[in-house]
Amino acid sequence: MTKNKNNRAIWNTRIKKKTSSIFLRIGNSIDIDKKLYKEDILGSIAHVEMLFKQKIISFQVKNKIIYGLRKIEKEISNNKFEFSKEYEDIHMNIEKRLFKIIGEEAGYLHTARSRNDQVITDFKLWIKTATKEIDNSLNKIIKTILKIAEKNIETIMPGFTHLKNAQAVSLGHYFMAYVEMFIRDKKRFINNMESLNENPLGVSALTGTSFNIDRNYTTKKLGFKNPTNNSIDTVSDRDFVLDYLYSCSVCSMHISKITEELIIWYSDGFGLIKLNDKVLTGSSIMPQKKNPDLLEYLRGKTGSVYGNLFSMLTILKGLPLSYFKDLQDDKEIVFNTHETLNNNLKILDEVLNNIIPNKKKMLDLANEGFITATDLADYLVTNHSMSFRDSYQKTAAIVNYAEKKKKKLQDLTLEELKKIVPKLTKDVLQVFNLKYSINSKKSYGGTSFDNIKKMILKYKKQL
Ligand code: ARG
Repeated sequence: MTKNKNNRAIWNTRIKKKTSSIFLRIGNSIDIDKKLYKEDILGSIAHVEMLFKQKIISFQVKNKIIYGLRKIEKEISNNKFEFSKEYEDIHMNIEKRLFKIIGEEAGYLHTARSRNDQVITDFKLWIKTATKEIDNSLNKIIKTILKIAEKNIETIMPGFTHLKNAQAVSLGHYFMAYVEMFIRDKKRFINNMESLNENPLGVSALTGTSFNIDRNYTTKKLGFKNPTNNSIDTVSDRDFVLDYLYSCSVCSMHISKITEELIIWYSDGFGLIKLNDKVLTGSSIMPQKKNPDLLEYLRGKTGSVYGNLFSMLTILKGLPLSYFKDLQDDKEIVFNTHETLNNNLKILDEVLNNIIPNKKKMLDLANEGFITATDLADYLVTNHSMSFRDSYQKTAAIVNYAEKKKKKLQDLTLEELKKIVPKLTKDVLQVFNLKYSINSKKSYGGTSFDNIKKMILKYKKQL
């Protein structure tokens, strides 16, 4: 058995000179990857259980190692563990401590394994848990939005295209659009599970191993579905990291959309919502100000999430097979992204719970900008057998007339309308009613009150 001097890094039998102090300072990752300690210990326990089952190590050695690992886990969770930069990362720190606790038998732990497969195993396990955390946060947001939507099925507002009044919609329908986005986010995260469920453990440094290991056993023990298929690919593959970062980026993009939307609605120009003081901040010089800083914070953070995705893509670009130190940065990037997104989802939930729609302002704004013009055009097609292009022209002429007279469409008299379309009858006037307009959009996915009610019910049942 090789003696392991505990005051030296494990590879110091070959590397004779003390690592340069600058590299010691920058080359270690312990401050970051110590987050993986639980997964690392879990992986190590599964590994030694497999080694024992395969008769590669003895019963006593297995038990001793597991005893030591459990002790280390307690030490770390009780903040009693002394992390050392000299031992570079979480894997070496734990192995070193194991030697201290159980002695030379700790040397059997690293049989048929490398840090290369060890770190990805830990990391995949960690991202699986992180994914579930994000999924829970998304569920919470969706429930909050469903509540807001339910309260605002009959709140009328303008729907915008190009930020110009387009057609009348229900505020409930508007919010339900974000439910769709966050549900797609959930699916995107869950779809990543397929790759996350491939177990890297046992591919060793890059070739696999000459020991008679059982990768299916560790796969089952660690809750993976299958072992990975190619040892060289496995140690270099970080696609699962990109998948996670991309999913976080899309979700952040959705957060940035809703926050931007709310910032606009809260602005003095729009005034479509009020926000509870709880989510507003003041100005150091302008005493009157109440600013939506939290919303701006969320919108801004999307930038760093995208940045992280691009950092990882750039690290991976052109990297030959198989493991390189370049890959070590993947953890900092993912941990930072995860924390940002999960915080942001919590902050967004808080802000959403503190929105007060200004229903009067919404209705007033919906009455601007000839918003029922399309309803009139539809009416002409249905009731006066015109082609849509024909009715479009006639309606445009009516809008031009109203604009010239400085009137809203609903203020035009039947006589005025008849100047442009002589065969019109009194019932045309109903198309200018916003509630009528909204409720006429009964096509699947449209904004009619009934549609929204059904959608809300469907999602409430689903969650
Ligand atoms: N801390 C390392 C990382 O995260 C673990 C793998 C080290 N492997 C190696 N061959 N140096 O990438």
